[in-house]
Amino acid sequence: MFIGNKLLQFEQVSSTNDIAWQYAGDEGSNGLVVIADEQLAGRGRRGDAWLSPPGSALYLSMLLHPDVSCRHPVMLTIWAGLGVCSMIERTLSIKPQLKWPNDVFIDGKKVCGILVEQRLDWFVVGVGLNLAIPPQHFQAAGIHHAVSLQEFTDLPLNHLEVFDHLKTEWIQLYTELISGNHSRLLELWQEYSGLLGKAVQLEASGKVWFGLIRHLNWDTIVLEVDGNQTSFQPQAVTKLQIIT
Ligand code: BTN
Repeated sequence: MFIGNKLLQFEQVSSTNDIAWQYAGDEGSNGLVVIADEQLAGRGRRGDAWLSPPGSALYLSMLLHPDVSCRHPVMLTIWAGLGVCSMIERTLSIKPQLKWPNDVFIDGKKVCGILVEQRLDWFVVGVGLNLAIPPQHFQAAGIHHAVSLQEFTDLPLNHLEVFDHLKTEWIQLYTELISGNHSRLLELWQEYSGLLGKAVQLEASGKVWFGLIRHLNWDTIVLEVDGNQTSFQPQAVTKLQIIT
């Protein structure tokens, strides 16, 4: 499997996504992974900056030129997030939550963010996984809902070892993705998101909806509102949150 066959490591970069993009178009770089100790201009979704202090997190980008059937940002985002969730559960016996669209939470706090970028039929999947960022860093940056994995385990967390575990999960799940048999991936999505059957607030096309999630896959999210079912295209859904 090609994912991670080529690994580029840096001490300091602007953004690992930017480095990965330099190799787009080169078929031999399909599956290239870029890892850095520190990012000076790490970016998150909606143009936000991504806090990237040195030596305390996994900053990773993966360049993909997927088969036509998998050139789907939502699918790739969920695939990457599920890989992170199952890696955390398998290695640390902690059950994370996959929050829409691409955040991994533990105990109500964000431990990982995923940024999928697309240019033509190439994708860069950027993953920022907080391993041991001191809480003061988050506070100083005004980030109040973030946490590091180290807070949940006494095991030492080395970013390259964590990547190795992640790679194993991603490869397994990618094999299922390209096989076209998505039943286990969709089950995992339901399991880690906890969305199916739940009362949610959903935002799409500038409107807010309240209802029950009745169906969840890459192409359609079905919401039941007052007994009527409405379908949404996942890429149009900007917010999907369980109401507690
Ligand atoms: C989010 O907003 O939740 C997504 C954050 C993604 C951050 C990662 S860190 C590695 C990669 N390089 C970047 O510049 N961003 C992503």
